[in-house]
Amino acid sequence: MRAVGFRANGGTEVLELLEVPEPVPGPGQIAVRVAFAGVNFAEIQHRRGEFGVPDGPGGLDVPGLEISGTVTALGEGVAGPEAGEPVAAYLPAFGGYAQVVVADTRFVRSLRTDAGEVDLDQAAGLPCVFPTAYGVLRDAGRLRGGETVLVHAAAGGVGSAAVQLARGLGAGQVFGTVGSAGKIPYAAQLGYDEVFVRDGFAERVAEATGGRGVDLVLDPVGGPVREQSLSVLAPFGRVVAYGDLGRHGEWTASVRDLWKGNRTIAGFNIGDLARRRPERIGDYLSQALRLLAAGRIRANVTEILPLADAAKAHELLETGTGRGKILLTPA
Ligand SMILES: NC(=O)c1ccc[n+]([C@@H]2O[C@H](COP(=O)([O-])OP(=O)(O)OC[C@H]3O[C@@H](n4cnc5c(N)ncnc54)[C@H](OP(=O)(O)O)[C@@H]3O)[C@@H](O)[C@H]2O)c1
Repeated sequence: MRAVGFRANGGTEVLELLEVPEPVPGPGQIAVRVAFAGVNFAEIQHRRGEFGVPDGPGGLDVPGLEISGTVTALGEGVAGPEAGEPVAAYLPAFGGYAQVVVADTRFVRSLRTDAGEVDLDQAAGLPCVFPTAYGVLRDAGRLRGGETVLVHAAAGGVGSAAVQLARGLGAGQVFGTVGSAGKIPYAAQLGYDEVFVRDGFAERVAEATGGRGVDLVLDPVGGPVREQSLSVLAPFGRVVAYGDLGRHGEWTASVRDLWKGNRTIAGFNIGDLARRRPERIGDYLSQALRLLAAGRIRANVTEILPLADAAKAHELLETGTGRGKILLTPA
């Protein structure tokens, strides 16, 4: 089968389109013929080496955290989903940029939901992004009805999902920030009350909330943005850290400032959840597919590229020029 992978960490030039052996499902796994693979910022981090050197079979790592496709084979002890069934899968150990993947059934859900069947192209960008948005808003962020939310990187994959889920979970006002003014029109149509350019966002938030501040900030950017996010919190407000897009590395907050200011910093990581609460990811995926089938959320797919163009997809995300969800198709 064809797959895109890398044997050394580096820029997009390390991505190669290759013929590799088709994987065989083991106990608790199924094989899926991939229709579409979602592209995530984490795959850029994987390629750059932020998760370590390639250690897959033959020294080749195949990136890709989420896919949709059709079940082709079941491993030992697996009762379902049946061969031929359309599914979406989160792949914590990567492998999605390929014609066939093996997936752990705990992270696989059928596209045939009780609210209707979800299309393969709409489902592919859900399995990593929606559990992340749910976990950040509800579990780490403890969002309550009527609260005000600020979403950084508002037009990206997780950001596009987060604004819709925040509404579904009963948030009051939802604000977003983007890196440049050119992205505001795209982000605004996702359902934000207002979208600000990230540079200078603290003043804009103060104006928009009459000086009250926000209850919850979703922050995958880090560094100065994380520090300023703490300053825009209303009493008992939370900043959820879940990425380091700005590559600022470690940043330390003063615990004294936190308790003196009734502020909280929380964290979210889907990889840790996959190891320690795998059932929660499956639950979130089921919920997201039902909401999509019922027309209550949109997948925001903006581009579908052939697998061979994986480097182009990475460039779009890495330069911050991408909007919404980009998919690859091995067809
Ligand atoms: N902790 C977890 O479990 C978890 C799970 C999934 C994703 N994440 C994290 O969530 C973040 C978003 O992921 P995603 O897949 O939604 O990414 P995405 O679709 O590529 O969106 C990322 C957005 O971030 C913004 N950005 C800000 N600083 C940037 C920089 N220095 N370089 C590139 N983009 C920058 C860009 O928008 P602007 O132009 O508007 O700034 C870009 O559109 C990433 O940090 C990822 O690692 C974490």
